[in-house]
Amino acid sequence: MFRYPAGVVLLLFGLSVFAVSSGASDGYLKLPSEFSEFLRPSEASGGDDSVGTRWAVLIAGSKDYWNYRHQADVCHAYQILKRGGLKDENIVVFMYDDIAYNEENPRPGVIINSPHGSNVYAGVPKDYTGNEVNAKNFLAAILGNKSAITGGSGKVVDNGPNDHIFIFYTDHGGPGVIGMPTRPYLYADELNDALKMKHASGTYKSLVFYLEACEAGSMFEGLLPEGLNIYTTTASNAEEGSWCTYCPGGYPSISPEYEICLGDFYSVAWMEDSEVHNLHSETLEQQYNQVKKRLSIASHVMQYGDLKLSVEDLFLYMGTNPANDNYTFVDDNVLHPSSKAVYQRDADLVHFWDKPCNLCVCVCPLKIYLMLLSQYLYFRKAPEGSARKEEAQKQVFEAMSHRMHIDSSMKLIGNLLFGVEKGPEILNAVRPAGQPLADDWACLKSLVRTFETHCDSLSRYGMKHTRTIANICNAGITKEQMTEAASQACTSVPSNPWTSLDGAYSA
Ligand SMILES: *[C@@H]1O[C@H](CO)[C@@H](O)[C@H](O)[C@H]1NC(C)=O
Ligand SMILES: *[C@@H]1O[C@H](CO)[C@@H](O)[C@H](O)[C@H]1NC(C)=O
Repeated sequence: MFRYPAGVVLLLFGLSVFAVSSGASDGYLKLPSEFSEFLRPSEASGGDDSVGTRWAVLIAGSKDYWNYRHQADVCHAYQILKRGGLKDENIVVFMYDDIAYNEENPRPGVIINSPHGSNVYAGVPKDYTGNEVNAKNFLAAILGNKSAITGGSGKVVDNGPNDHIFIFYTDHGGPGVIGMPTRPYLYADELNDALKMKHASGTYKSLVFYLEACEAGSMFEGLLPEGLNIYTTTASNAEEGSWCTYCPGGYPSISPEYEICLGDFYSVAWMEDSEVHNLHSETLEQQYNQVKKRLSIASHVMQYGDLKLSVEDLFLYMGTNPANDNYTFVDDNVLHPSSKAVYQRDADLVHFWDKPCNLCVCVCPLKIYLMLLSQYLYFRKAPEGSARKEEAQKQVFEAMSHRMHIDSSMKLIGNLLFGVEKGPEILNAVRPAGQPLADDWACLKSLVRTFETHCDSLSRYGMKHTRTIANICNAGITKEQMTEAASQACTSVPSNPWTSLDGAYSA
């Protein structure tokens, strides 16, 4: 009776493969010689070792086994900082911690972040786990405000004026918003306000923020001012998805026991770069260029804030692994061995991109299909007619219905507010680079709640519609008008795993 969803999944599968091939046509199949133009010998910023204390905040914004890769990224980042010489007391880790001992994990107690990677879970401090991983605790930890923290170890960034701070976030996102395992999500205005507040407290030397999420650039675009001594790079610009890597059916291949992706492309790119260099001799800018180049097949890596800080050595933020002392940053070792192998195998790559079972496409609008697909593939192994199979098929059906309900409700609301002609145009508008997503963030959050009250929770999939709703605000629509339109468009809120019926709103 659930044949239809499976068919839909396979159809979407076809679509996603198409998306990969078209994405791949842009810029990837370059010869290694063409890369040298990107590689600039930079003024290394001298080996000033008197750097105060290095602090780090690492956070995975997701939960559930299907999101394995985010927590894998965070654990991996911890290992790099630890080997770089940072102390546990200075590394604040936020991870839901439902992966290592998840019943789906083929290697209990072990998390890996690359096909032949070692266990990155070992020794990771569990400062904030489960529902303690939330937007409020995350901002309080950055601000060093212990009294604003609920639960967890209470560890916060308690830095002094000479200290350097490194923040790494990885998860799903949407325009102007990044996910958290527990709602509400974190909106761009709140993040930037917290960073401004941090600067106003005058307590740090400089702060570097690496952010992986879809539409990651929208968290800072037009919002993060210069002059805060903050430098950020993001996995994607304000209007495109970010990608995952080391996925089933991808290259290099991963062990068939894994039905999920092991890492995110940007995250893995900076970490694998940090792992093969003496970080005394690699600058933030050199790393940015390396990561940007490695991601050129997928998304646009961006930088925001005080770009002048980019001449600083990574050492200031990540320390350096003494075992890499002899690996200084020079042109002939800039590419990580594995990426080099990938770049030089152009022919194989073409084949790889054309392969119909490549799950590397974590481009956000497609993410749901992939989640469904991996779920489908996973449960395909279950015997016909088994309870497990029925459950899987029900889940796929539920997720598809949810997705269609969100999209069609949003469209209908647009038509009710602006008419069938102007509606789609206003809803789908994308502002030029340099402008923030929304003029009034309170309006955006209020209308998100209105939508969720009358229609359905946005959920991870619906996060892409924060731009739609921001556009509605930017067009001057009030909460009352939105309430009227949403209650006309949606007769009831369906009960599903993402439901907002329990009063949990994403804003
Ligand atoms: C710390 O958080 C508490 C509770 O949210 C708040 O009342 C207080 O103003 C904050 N302190 C600082 C220094 O920001
Ligand atoms: C770096 O090179 C020097 C000189 O060849 C050698 O003595 C040292 O052991 C090397 N360090 C590492 C960490 O490999």
